[in-house]
Amino acid sequence: MTVAAPAASPTPVEAPAARLVLAIETSCDDTSVAVLERGAVVRSHLIATQDVHRLYGGVVPELASRAHLELLPPLVTRALEEAGVGARDLTAVAVTRGPGLVGSLVVGVAFAKAYALGLGVPVVGVNHIEAHLHAGTLEHGDSPVPAVALVVSGGHTELVVVRGPGDYRWLGSTLDDAAGEAYDKVAKLLGLGFPGGPAIDRLARDGRAHAFDLPRPMLDRPGFDFSFSGLKTAVLHALAGRPAPYPADVVADMAASFQAAVVDTLTAKTLRALDHTGARALNMGGGVACNRALRERLAGECAARGVAFRVPSPRLCADNAAMIGLVGAWMLDRGLASDDALDAVASLEESGLLPAG
Ligand code: KG4
Ligand code: ZN
Repeated sequence: MTVAAPAASPTPVEAPAARLVLAIETSCDDTSVAVLERGAVVRSHLIATQDVHRLYGGVVPELASRAHLELLPPLVTRALEEAGVGARDLTAVAVTRGPGLVGSLVVGVAFAKAYALGLGVPVVGVNHIEAHLHAGTLEHGDSPVPAVALVVSGGHTELVVVRGPGDYRWLGSTLDDAAGEAYDKVAKLLGLGFPGGPAIDRLARDGRAHAFDLPRPMLDRPGFDFSFSGLKTAVLHALAGRPAPYPADVVADMAASFQAAVVDTLTAKTLRALDHTGARALNMGGGVACNRALRERLAGECAARGVAFRVPSPRLCADNAAMIGLVGAWMLDRGLASDDALDAVASLEESGLLPAG
């Protein structure tokens, strides 16, 4: 595993009564633990990336569950040490309940429930997508509302209107592959490693964005939904007849052309959503929100419209426990602690976050 560098040494807890939440995220292949004070100050934050999946070119669910099981206890111990607190100082435990890989989620939820029970503190189950919507708050403070949120990850591509914590209206989703999934599949076609997003992002800088003529899916249709599976097929067709492995200049040109198509598509639908809703801010999250070209493009478009653009640093875009602690603390403030029935949910539909538009 790879554990991200420890945070700077913690400041002492200001008062014994300070509200301290232990947050746990295990929805996919990152095991993450954080300690948050009053839902706002991140006192410690660890993210262990499970390198084992690289060998298989994608996340292997059974291996992910096992790795979460092994990683959680030592990460919790270290997160408490780095936060400068003892387990008995904790006042609640927040955990991702879904959506995600159900085996991975079950490990986190079972651990969190048992840990909270042992300490006699409440546990709160947090929706993973809701946490991505708000991750920027940890660095930028409260968002102006209404806001549009774009969540772009390996599993999701969602456009949502945010009117406040817990108050959402869904605008659109992908109808097939998520944006990150498309990055990963195209990277595989190009012979790049897993996950593919960072590699394509890097290589695109040396390529020509107009070298291959790729479609901008769904832009000719009204609404806010996305579709990325046709783009992957278009890449396959554009490379047909060339023997693999492809020369470096072809890989760079395809990376640049594919990335331009994804960024154009995400940008067009997001701007449509901003115009449609009159939103005052754009919040972005999910692993694809690390993408340099997407960040630059949306920053420029938002500046031109006088809309606040709020995307956190890459560490808080990807899967992380700090965003779970943030939303968990808000839920606890609203009296929304979970009961014994707290369980993992695999899909967004089951997670209860999707109100009718
Ligand atoms: O949010 P995340 O860490 O995990 C979930 O899927 O929930 O997102 C991972 C996804 C992967 O598909 C990865 O290829 C993509 O985010 N990704 C990127 C970049 N960094 C990560 N995609 C494009 N550009 C990047 N720089
Ligand atoms: Zn995620």
